[in-house]
Amino acid sequence: MDIKIPRGTQDIKPGDAEKWQFVEQKAHEICARYNYKEIRTPVFEHTELFQRGVGETTDIVQKEMYTFTDLGDRSLTLRPEGTASVVRSFVENKLYGQAEQPVKLYYTGPMFRYERPQSGRMRQFVQFGIEALGSEDPAVDAEVMALAMDFYEELGLSGLKLVINSLGDQESRKAHREALVNHFEPRISEFCTDCQERLHTNPLRILDCKTDAAHELMHNAPSILDYLSEASTQYFEEVKSLLDEMGVAYVVDDTLVRGLDYYNSTAFEIMLEGEGFGAISTLSGGGRYNGLVEELGGPATPGIGFAMSIERLLMALESQGIELPVNAGLDVYMVTMGEAADRKGSVLLHQLRKAGLKADKDYLGRKPKAQFKDADRKQADITLILGDQELEAGVINVKYMASGEQEEVAIEQLAERLTGGY
Ligand code: HAM
Repeated sequence: MDIKIPRGTQDIKPGDAEKWQFVEQKAHEICARYNYKEIRTPVFEHTELFQRGVGETTDIVQKEMYTFTDLGDRSLTLRPEGTASVVRSFVENKLYGQAEQPVKLYYTGPMFRYERPQSGRMRQFVQFGIEALGSEDPAVDAEVMALAMDFYEELGLSGLKLVINSLGDQESRKAHREALVNHFEPRISEFCTDCQERLHTNPLRILDCKTDAAHELMHNAPSILDYLSEASTQYFEEVKSLLDEMGVAYVVDDTLVRGLDYYNSTAFEIMLEGEGFGAISTLSGGGRYNGLVEELGGPATPGIGFAMSIERLLMALESQGIELPVNAGLDVYMVTMGEAADRKGSVLLHQLRKAGLKADKDYLGRKPKAQFKDADRKQADITLILGDQELEAGVINVKYMASGEQEEVAIEQLAERLTGGY
């Protein structure tokens, strides 16, 4: 067959899928502890949601969206991220009116961006993200960052670096924006065409440019932290002091600019230091978006969240040689000899499975020796051996693989014996 998987996507095959299940289960667990509730939104939305939510000037909206027209002539887009969808749902379902506030939500699911694929950068990737809507307490900022760091640490990752910045409130941003324009404008012709455009649409994004990263004007560009209003400064100080007291280590980097337009106030990324993790060292990112709910038609409501991709998480774990405790092995493998025994074997397996055991057998008519090999390959803790003779006597041979011990058990009592603790 010459039809191949689309570029930038991957098949997650048995053997790897168990790792996905494991980390996804961990995500559910940590969200339960922090009291975030799961929300599921569609993988496609009206294109306008992302144009308005993520922002017209962002790379995502300008270059990376999977947009199509459906048969009803609507412009739809495969979601490039989760926040806009969650906020859309928050507004549409009037979650701002529910008794429990703030509204703390999480999600896992595929996102789509038409990017240049490379290690850690896919066109379809799975994000685990959280969003807390309805509170502007710095403790929520600290909580979101703590959850993200705890999640990685509990999985065994080390060398994590939490990088934080404040993008300020409207007043701070306006002052900073003017300073940036004044700084870059006289020499903007020395910058790439993207930056020339950004100068008037969103000058903050110039700081994020990879092409011009080495330009001398980048090094002494005005720092947002020098333009923060009194309120923004105090807010940022409180976030930092809470992180200090919680023992969550961080570094402040005033050049941290996020690639989505909705951010203000606290912004952060978690990086992985050290070799072996490829060119991309960012594991996750997030921040406050206090204007987004209003932008999408809801009442003024503050929000903060973050997202990570499971792909990058698994790459990071692998780069540090961390094996996840996934057990794909069987409890029981049934080896049969003879036609009648083989038939009975299938019926017995059904009973064992109903009793809660992970159990399997041969279905290819293999010789006993090959069946034992199959049992080994499937990492069975117990091998059952049933021949026509045993069947006649109403017994079955039970072999405990770890100890090598064997015993004969009445077929009638097999399920009970095996589930009664062995
Ligand atoms: P983002 O920085 O665009 O933010 O993406 C967050 C994370 O998604 C990245 O740090 C990375 O782990 C993963 N990611 C992004 N693009 C790719 C890709 N092409 N391949 C693999 N992984 C990728 C957001 O999406 C925001 N919605 C985060 C947020 C939530 N902010 C507030 N709430």
